[in-house]
Amino acid sequence: MTRLLVTGGAGFIGANFVHQVLESTDDVVTVLDSLSYAGNRASLPDDGPRFRFVRGSVADPALLDDLVPRHDAVVHFAAESHNDNSLLDPSPFIDTNIVGTFELLQAVRHHDVRYHHISTDEVYGDLELDDPARFTETTPYNPSSPYSASKAGSDLLVRAWVRSFGVRATISNCSNNYGPYQHVEKFIPRQITNLIDGVRPRLYGAGLNVRDWIHVRDHNLAVLRILEAGTIGETYLIGADGELNNVTVIRLILELMGNDPDDFDHVTDRPGHDMRYAIDASRLRAELGWAPVYPDFRAGLAATIAWYRDNEAWWRPMKDQTEAKYARTGQ
Ligand code: NAD
Ligand code: TYD
Repeated sequence: MTRLLVTGGAGFIGANFVHQVLESTDDVVTVLDSLSYAGNRASLPDDGPRFRFVRGSVADPALLDDLVPRHDAVVHFAAESHNDNSLLDPSPFIDTNIVGTFELLQAVRHHDVRYHHISTDEVYGDLELDDPARFTETTPYNPSSPYSASKAGSDLLVRAWVRSFGVRATISNCSNNYGPYQHVEKFIPRQITNLIDGVRPRLYGAGLNVRDWIHVRDHNLAVLRILEAGTIGETYLIGADGELNNVTVIRLILELMGNDPDDFDHVTDRPGHDMRYAIDASRLRAELGWAPVYPDFRAGLAATIAWYRDNEAWWRPMKDQTEAKYARTGQ
């Protein structure tokens, strides 16, 4: 039995992680989450013998000093996570992603607690559509947006704390996740919930940008495997060979929801929009024996659509204010 402190557990990936841990292990979980606009207590179970929720910030050193030593490992999901928001106001990205990670690293350092850092492939910048290369653990960092720059900064802090202070940390950089409990500001849930509301999906620019989709449960299975058998100080890239361009994804959502696949609108493009992300997860597969369990994107997307149809009470409260924000930027 391991006592896990999961930061950002009320967000999309963290909440799925908590459910997976409670279902598949006998670990005990504490979630630390500030319940920002992206956090939702309703994504998590009630407090009980194996689960506790603590509302607070990862940037609060006194709280961390109390919580961290009562755990065997910290899994750090908490972040400001949306590129479009970082273009409107970068400030919380610096506070949570950089300062928050710094405070957490100081706490795990002082209490000698194992740490796993959740990051993104966006730290590597983007690839051309026709580039035969994919990102690997040795690709140089080249972030484009305030979001990806703040995540890159946090990754570099982790590497320095490993080398300078002997912190027992691993890092994973994953590609774009999809699945249940994702905020309706993100691409896939936005289009699904628009269609439930009878609104046409919104494609940024020409929609040729490529994302490398992975089911959230496969991301979390990789994180569990790294916690179990990863080498301290190492970085692992997580991806499931799921490259698709945005127009293909929108057309598939329309088809699966019984609409004409051409029934969408092109809207204002994102400034500095990364063209393509692509992950080579060979190290994770070869060294840790991980492989995706949910590789069928069409089936995963159909199940995700069913989840949003069945769980309107979960997403409805966030929908209007999210769309009002996009309306202000012409998106
Ligand atoms: P999310 O926005 O859905 O959830 C983030 C959670 O962090 C929320 O519950 C929020 O309340 C919490 N939080 C924010 N600031 C906090 C603070 N100061 N203290 C405590 N909690 C705070 O994000 P997500 O999509 O679940 O992403 C989780 C992690 O995975 C992030 O680190 C992100 O960079 C990384 N990641 C995401 C993706 C993706 O496709 N979504 C891909 C690769 C990596
Ligand atoms: P997003 O879910 O914001 O993830 P990320 O920026 O981390 O890749 O967006 C995924 C892709 O979808 C990205 O290329 C931007 C695009 N997009 C749209 O075309 N329309 C939308 O309404 C949104 C939110 C995103």
